[in-house]
Amino acid sequence: MTTITTAALTSCGDGAEKKSEESTNEKVTKVAWGEADGKPVDLYTLTNANGVQIKISTYGGVVTSWVTPDKAGNKSNVVLGFDSLSGYLAKPPYFGAIIGRYGNRIGKGTFKIDTTTYQLATNNGANHLHGGNKGYDKVVWDAKPADSTASLTLTYLSKDGEEGYPGNLNITVVYTLTDENELLIDYTAETDKATVVNLTNHSYFNLTGDVNNTILDHQLQINADKYTPVDAGLIPTGELKDVKGTPFDFLQPHKIGERIAAVEGGYDHNFVLTRTGSDLELVATLSDSVSGRKLEVFTTEPGLQFYSGNFLDGTIKTSDGKSINLRTGLCLETQHFPDSPNKPAFPSTLLKPGEKYHTVTKYKISVN
Ligand code: BGC
Repeated sequence: MTTITTAALTSCGDGAEKKSEESTNEKVTKVAWGEADGKPVDLYTLTNANGVQIKISTYGGVVTSWVTPDKAGNKSNVVLGFDSLSGYLAKPPYFGAIIGRYGNRIGKGTFKIDTTTYQLATNNGANHLHGGNKGYDKVVWDAKPADSTASLTLTYLSKDGEEGYPGNLNITVVYTLTDENELLIDYTAETDKATVVNLTNHSYFNLTGDVNNTILDHQLQINADKYTPVDAGLIPTGELKDVKGTPFDFLQPHKIGERIAAVEGGYDHNFVLTRTGSDLELVATLSDSVSGRKLEVFTTEPGLQFYSGNFLDGTIKTSDGKSINLRTGLCLETQHFPDSPNKPAFPSTLLKPGEKYHTVTKYKISVN
């Protein structure tokens, strides 16, 4: 692999510094981005043939920006994120990150495999959320850029006992930006002891490309005729409820703001995807008529967490000082259902030694 080094002025660390930009192929470049846990952190940029760029940090495997044109050809960033590592070290609510070992909640942070009960970190009231106190969003991943494509492979070894989970889990996440403006995320994992795994990505989209706008006028369609109602701690009750006649019916497109007032706290629910098979399938479409941008979500997963940014409250600011206010970003997290380890009727999240965890999700952005 050849390494080309060019000088570039990039905003990195805590301020704009002159840094050297390396590229392994013209579609993948990297800059040094600071340090976390005593390890160097890099920021990679994937560029496709249309000049669309996605930046990914080795800290948390975070998608820090996705710069893509609107219908007039003006480019802007459509995900919430920061220009410097310090923004992420301040622990924003999982902006753009890889989530694991278990995406979303496990009730009381406990579950049983065979006869052994495991107790995980409880970091969300009485419950476990997004992998615990230090989930995969807060670790430094090893990275290897592809030789000739706009693709980056991230790996992480999650040790036996980390945040209470059993088994050494070897994880690989491959991010690929295609010339069709798709971000393909391929997750694989293997364990040496029976464990539970549910990996996802926590990007917050705002298709207007401007955090001063809310996402309430975005239109959303989800192929789900059922959802999983939750208790006060956002743990599924176990019921699979029909969306028909409720504000959770997104079978036809609806503006997010249209019925949100009828949903206590806003949307933060797992939708049970109505799938035709187990292959990569289109499951949701989000669009913004002003910018003309459309986001399509494809996945192999059975569930989708639609989170309407209900806990964003303006206290976090973008790198250029704008407040990230209530509902200025939304997540469409492909996943297995929350609390599956305690809900035998839900699709299983158990991974045993010798098995391979493999899921694929694709986010595609186009303009109308
Ligand atoms: C959860 C929310 C949580 C958010 C973290 C979502 O996936 O469902 O309840 O607050 O992540 O920002």
